[in-house]
Amino acid sequence: MPLNPRTSDGRATGTATPRFELAHIGPHVDDGERAVAELRAGLGRSPAHLPARLLYDARGSALFDAITELPEYYPTRAETEILERHAGEIIERAAPAELFELGSGSSRKTRILIEAALERGCRRYVALDVSASALEQAGLELVAAHDELSVRALVADFASGLAHRAGPGPRLVLFLGSTLGNFRPEERRRFLKQLALSLRPDDRLLLGYDIVKPAAVLELAYDDPAGVTAAFVRNGLHNLARVGGEPIPLAAFAYEAKWIPESSHMEMRLVARRDLRIRLPNLDLHLDLAAGEFLISEISTKFTRESLARDLSEAGLTVDVTFADRAKRFELLLARPQG
Ligand code: AVJ
Repeated sequence: MPLNPRTSDGRATGTATPRFELAHIGPHVDDGERAVAELRAGLGRSPAHLPARLLYDARGSALFDAITELPEYYPTRAETEILERHAGEIIERAAPAELFELGSGSSRKTRILIEAALERGCRRYVALDVSASALEQAGLELVAAHDELSVRALVADFASGLAHRAGPGPRLVLFLGSTLGNFRPEERRRFLKQLALSLRPDDRLLLGYDIVKPAAVLELAYDDPAGVTAAFVRNGLHNLARVGGEPIPLAAFAYEAKWIPESSHMEMRLVARRDLRIRLPNLDLHLDLAAGEFLISEISTKFTRESLARDLSEAGLTVDVTFADRAKRFELLLARPQG
């Protein structure tokens, strides 16, 4: 099927790259009742949470890209090392006809898998992300670099995207970068169940997850001295102000990254330096924060091999094989639906 390239707002670009297509599925950052409902749900929690959609816009995605290159932020390098060493074996074991990536971002690490897949005759890559700009840039670069590859980019949240199937044959679902760690336990259980139900018997899941390690290492990885992570988190607040329709005094917030051992997660916080009222007239909402109270921009859960295998098994998934980087900081696992 010849596919026409689309820009992020859905118009044809007119360039002759017939192997890239971009489609919007479900709501995105500036519209949709669901996006607003998600925002209300997040802000209504105590403490209030910023939804991921506000963090991973074009600027947020670019800032996250910069985070992955920081010396203190090891997960991306560790995962890349694993992929470089084991991509061939992963593709051989999964024998996919299609790679389907949830939260693809820049697709930089995925290239390693795409190349291994192409060598073994798998030519379809479906990338799903909330950032249209990241998808467009990554997709166009990929088809330019690989003549045989077709890329279908879906601007969608995970729930809307999982149901999409581009063609026949086994699918290898990629969920890399420890994005699973962003979910709260209950949300994680729901997501893993939904993911397990979307898999056919021959499909496989490749999951990247970060391993529990000393607080000092983690807190530095999520609060780098150069301030890139703080800028990334503040961008979420800036987007909240834009969506809410009134400026927010960004300087009234301090950024803090804290390890919470009881829940095995890093918490990225925006702490009010003084009593504050955040007005969000477009949402017909305000948030009151006393000095020292905070908003949570993200959590990043850290796992052990055992804790994650339990979660997967509860969801109906069985781990086939696990791969670690040399320094044992990060792991990838290959799982299948329970037969
Ligand atoms: C993209 C969610 C995997 O949790 O490590 C990193 C996000 N935020 N530094 C992570 C993040 C700030 C990242 N994930």
